[in-house]
Amino acid sequence: MREQLAALEQEALAAIQGTENLQTLEDLRVRFLGKKGEVTAILKQMGGLSPEERPQIGQLANALSETLTAALGVRREVLEAKSLDERLSREKLDITIPGQRLAVGKQHVMMKTLDEALDIFIGMGFSIAEGPEVELAANNFDKLNIAEGHPSRDWGDTFYFDADSAYALRPQTSPVQVRVMESQKPPIRVVSPGRVYRKDEVDATHSPMFHQIEGLVVDKGVTMADLKGTLNALIGQLYGEGTKTRFRPHFFPFTEPSCEVDCQCFKCRGAGCPMCKGEGWIELLGSGMVHPNVLRNCGIDPEIYSGFAFGMGLERMTMMRYNISDLRLIFENDLRFLRQF
Ligand code: DAH
Repeated sequence: MREQLAALEQEALAAIQGTENLQTLEDLRVRFLGKKGEVTAILKQMGGLSPEERPQIGQLANALSETLTAALGVRREVLEAKSLDERLSREKLDITIPGQRLAVGKQHVMMKTLDEALDIFIGMGFSIAEGPEVELAANNFDKLNIAEGHPSRDWGDTFYFDADSAYALRPQTSPVQVRVMESQKPPIRVVSPGRVYRKDEVDATHSPMFHQIEGLVVDKGVTMADLKGTLNALIGQLYGEGTKTRFRPHFFPFTEPSCEVDCQCFKCRGAGCPMCKGEGWIELLGSGMVHPNVLRNCGIDPEIYSGFAFGMGLERMTMMRYNISDLRLIFENDLRFLRQF
C-alpha cells in the first residue's frame, strides 16, 4: 500500500504540473481528492491492514492529501495569473488609433431667423398658434372675405384636393387667424409660423412651398398706431435700432385699410443698390386692420372689437438678414452653404 500511495503521489503531482487549464485542474482535484477519488479509494482498503500498519498508512494518506491540496493551490494560482495576463494582453487598447469624428449638426439658418422673430414676439406678449397645412377653403378664403372669383382662389394658383375646391394646401397662414378667432375670445395676440403652398415654378425668388409668419391682435380699441408700433419694434430688433420703415397703402381682402411695409435697405441705407434694385427700400410684409367682415365671420362683434393682422415670408426675411441671393440655397441642404451660419 505504501508503494501504491507513492505511485499515486508521483502520478498526481505530474498531472497537476502538466495541466495548462483551470478546468482540467478542477477535474484532477475531483479525480484524486474527491469523495469517489483515488486517495479515498485507497483509504477504504485500510480495513484489511494490521493494527500496527493502519495508523502509519493513515498518516501517509493524510500527508498525500495535504501535498496534493497544496500542489493544486499553487498550480491554480499560476494558471489564474497566466489567464489574467492573457486577457490583459488580448484586451489591450490602442490609444493611438484615431477616434471616430462625430458629425454635429446645427440649426438651419431659416429656423434661426424664425427663433429670433418668435423671441421678439413672445417678448411683446404674443403666444404661438398653429394651424393645419391642409385647410378648408372656407377658412382659407370665404371667412377671410376673399370672394368667389378672386384670383388667389384660382386652380392655377392653389393646390386643391377635390373637384369642389373645398380643401386645399393652404396658400397662406392667414386661415389660422380664423381658427384662433373662432376658438378664443379677445384679447387675442398670436403669431403663427408655418408652411404654405402655391403653384409657382422654382426660381431664385419662388418655390411651391415656403414659410410665412402670420400675426393677429384683436382687442377693444386696437388702432393703426398699435400696428405701426408693433411692426416698427419688430423691424428695429431684427434689422437694427432706428431702421426706417415705410407703410404703403395696398389692398388685401381681409384687412381695411391695408398696407405693405418696407424697410430702408440695410445694405445701402436708402441710397439705392443692387440689393434693393436701386429703390432704397425693401418690401417686408403685408398688414392692415382686420376687416369688419372677417371679425363678424368669426363671431367677433366689430362694433366692440378691432384688430390688426400681418403676414411675412420667412425665407425672404432670412435672405435679407443673411444677404442670401438665391431662395433655392435655403432648401437644397448643401452643407457648404449651411455651415456658414
Ligand atoms: N396672406 C397674405 C399673403 O400671403 C399676407 C398678409 C397680408 C397677411 C396682410 C395678413 C395681412 O395677415 O393682414 O400674401
